[in-house]
Amino acid sequence: MPPAFDPDAAAAYLTAADASLTGRVRVHLVQHQLAWHLPSPPARVLDVGGGAGHQAVPLARQGYEVTIVDPSVAMLEEAATRLADGPPEVAARVRLVPGRGEDLPQLVPGRFEVVLCHGVLLYLEDPDPLLRGVASVLAPGGLVSLLTLQQPSLALRLALGHRWTEALSALDADHEVGVLGLPTRAETPETLAARLEALAVAPLAWYGGWLFADLLGPLDLPDGELEAFLALELEGSRRDPYRRLSRVFHLLGRGTASAPRAGAPQAVRPPIPSA
Ligand SMILES: C[S@@+](CC[C@H](N)C(=O)[O-])C[C@H]1O[C@@H](n2cnc3c(N)ncnc32)[C@H](O)[C@@H]1O
Repeated sequence: MPPAFDPDAAAAYLTAADASLTGRVRVHLVQHQLAWHLPSPPARVLDVGGGAGHQAVPLARQGYEVTIVDPSVAMLEEAATRLADGPPEVAARVRLVPGRGEDLPQLVPGRFEVVLCHGVLLYLEDPDPLLRGVASVLAPGGLVSLLTLQQPSLALRLALGHRWTEALSALDADHEVGVLGLPTRAETPETLAARLEALAVAPLAWYGGWLFADLLGPLDLPDGELEAFLALELEGSRRDPYRRLSRVFHLLGRGTASAPRAGAPQAVRPPIPSA
């Protein structure tokens, strides 16, 4: 029986990770990759598993109307504290809703032009119920943004840690023990794209994330070099082979006009366009 998700451990990890080079690269990449596809504000944005609002609060600052749904009360409290410390007009654009992504239709009214779900699917043995929830509340033509663990990176990480035998086994594995000490599930952009297509969400593009920061390990980068490093990461994140090797991938999709409330399978699967 896998250990339960510990929101306090997750919150502590995210706060520490935010300050690291990987954390800074992550924020830079995800914000830029999203910005290539987001509608202009104001639009309704739902962040499923949005935790302490690391992604959603900056969007509220840009003028989006944001709802964060998360089962962790500790995470939502941290989001509330961050909001209370900032401008009241930003806090007024954010709603915090306790609950699971699987129950979205019962938790949030109406439909959203953008639904984010970052760093959540890897903790779910079966991601489809949550994805059905996402598709159910997506407006026609709305944007879905998913960030999860990428399968080929499992062996790479072990090899970089000189764990040769485990790396060999991991070439075919789709699970590992993640940073929170929990089993995590990895997949490929193609398998996740197929899950979306079955819910009438067409894949738009996919990107990698913070490959070079991961490969280099802890690195004290002088401030003067950060800009060039971020530019390299961003360009690498949209190109093969670099995006294929990164720990995570960021898949974006667009709901079709006829998105059903609880998705129906589709027969035809178009290829995923590159960035
Ligand atoms: C690693 S954190 C990611 C937080 C944030 N999305 C980010 O990218 O910084 C995972 C979050 O998923 C939430 N979570 C776990 N299971 C969930 C579920 N079934 N539905 C929605 N959120 C869930 C956790 O409470 C936690 O806040």
